[in-house]
Amino acid sequence: MTILPDDFMWGGAVAANQCEGAWDEDGKGISISDVCTGGSHEQSKRITREIEEDTFYPSHEAIDFYHRYKEDIALMAEMGFEVFRFSIAWTRIFPTGMEEEPNEAGLEFYDQVIDECLKHDIEPLITISHYEMPFALTEKYNGWAARELIDLYVKYAETLFKRYRGKVKYWLTFNEINSGTMPMGGFLSLGILNEETTDFTDQVDEPQLRFQGLHHQFIASALAVKAGHKIDPDYQIGSMNIQATFYPRTCNPDDIIETQKRDQIVNYFCGDVQVKGEYPFYIDRYFKENEIEVEMEERDLEILKEGTVDYYTFSYYMSNCVTADPDQDQSSGNIIGGVENPYLDSSDWGWQIDPKGLRYTLNYLYDRYQIPLMVVENGLGARDEVEEDGSINDDYRIDYLRRHIEQMKEAVKDGVDLKAYTPWGCIDLVSASTGEMRKRYGFIYVDKHDDGSGTLERKPKQSFYWYQNVIESNGEELEIENKK
Ligand code: BG6
Repeated sequence: MTILPDDFMWGGAVAANQCEGAWDEDGKGISISDVCTGGSHEQSKRITREIEEDTFYPSHEAIDFYHRYKEDIALMAEMGFEVFRFSIAWTRIFPTGMEEEPNEAGLEFYDQVIDECLKHDIEPLITISHYEMPFALTEKYNGWAARELIDLYVKYAETLFKRYRGKVKYWLTFNEINSGTMPMGGFLSLGILNEETTDFTDQVDEPQLRFQGLHHQFIASALAVKAGHKIDPDYQIGSMNIQATFYPRTCNPDDIIETQKRDQIVNYFCGDVQVKGEYPFYIDRYFKENEIEVEMEERDLEILKEGTVDYYTFSYYMSNCVTADPDQDQSSGNIIGGVENPYLDSSDWGWQIDPKGLRYTLNYLYDRYQIPLMVVENGLGARDEVEEDGSINDDYRIDYLRRHIEQMKEAVKDGVDLKAYTPWGCIDLVSASTGEMRKRYGFIYVDKHDDGSGTLERKPKQSFYWYQNVIESNGEELEIENKK
């Protein structure tokens, strides 16, 4: 008997714009990530609006998954993957988002990717929109700020639901939908590009547009859930959120209240809407105090009720502290940030490592939503060195993952209904926040570098063999010595 249930699914996760490359092949249109240059922890990516000739755009080749997916999926199968979370590039199916008919070549590509997964008994888990909407929709509508996006998205989602029926069971409507509650999510997730914005990390922010955009995404997601269930009642369609676990920096009641307020808006607002099918009570005050007025149509609230999700998923990398004291130092985080926690160490990119926070979070979320959960992203972004003998000894990554899996098991012992674990960037890929390659997450190393050089050769790291053992033992064998 293992602690995790026998049908627990182990695997990994990627997103199209961060791994596929082939940005303009076979009819693909330009996505919002295709106009983002490379950057780093210190220097923001630029959003260029036009493709500049001598500028390096990491998504254009990425790791060339588009041409190498067979080799990559075979390596995942060798690790024992039971599930593979990937996204479909909207721009391969509807290049500008506005075409009447889908692009057949795009649909065929995903036919092949899905068939390749099934050939290896790997369950596809598909994110319909992962930070890669058509840039043409930004140009024409300022992204999700416009209500027109709802129908365009639903048309796209329905196309996928019909095409891949009988082969795919698990879907996620939007990656990290709650990133739209934060300024960086404006362009990243909602495709909103206000005049004057040039830098990805310093966008000209209009909360009114972001929350209006989120409302449109909620409606689109709910309509997609309804349509999906109609097309195939066996479809499981879920919510996906960036989990920014927050702790009060001290037990000062001011810190406690500040933490609760932040938690409600950043962590739970979107989940509450998508799981419970209604706007939560606390949002009215937030909207009032921030002068946000969300326009709704008459049927919208009913649509939300009718299109609630089947399961809840999230990414978990770190936790942060919150304080009411403006003089405290801030720590970094993918798009979140917060105040430093003196009990935690940080990654080289300043993300605070907190395995126990995962157990705490799983308990909290299960208590709040009472539906099955999946951890669909987790992992350590780190620099890897290739030794002279060609090996890559990523003990630090093994240690990070081991400690998080231990806490997942504790949460399952606590009674949480946890269905799957798909660590992020199971194969090295382009970083979403910085555009770097050197921030690596993979079990599989890819010879590709920040200047665009590299042979694209794939190589298993030590963590590859370690994870193989973890999967084989259903999470029982976690020790580092168990790597081969
Ligand atoms: C999540 C995103 O926020 O974090 C991924 O869903 C992203 O797309 C991942 O890659 C890790 O962040 P980063 O910035 O290190 O790539």
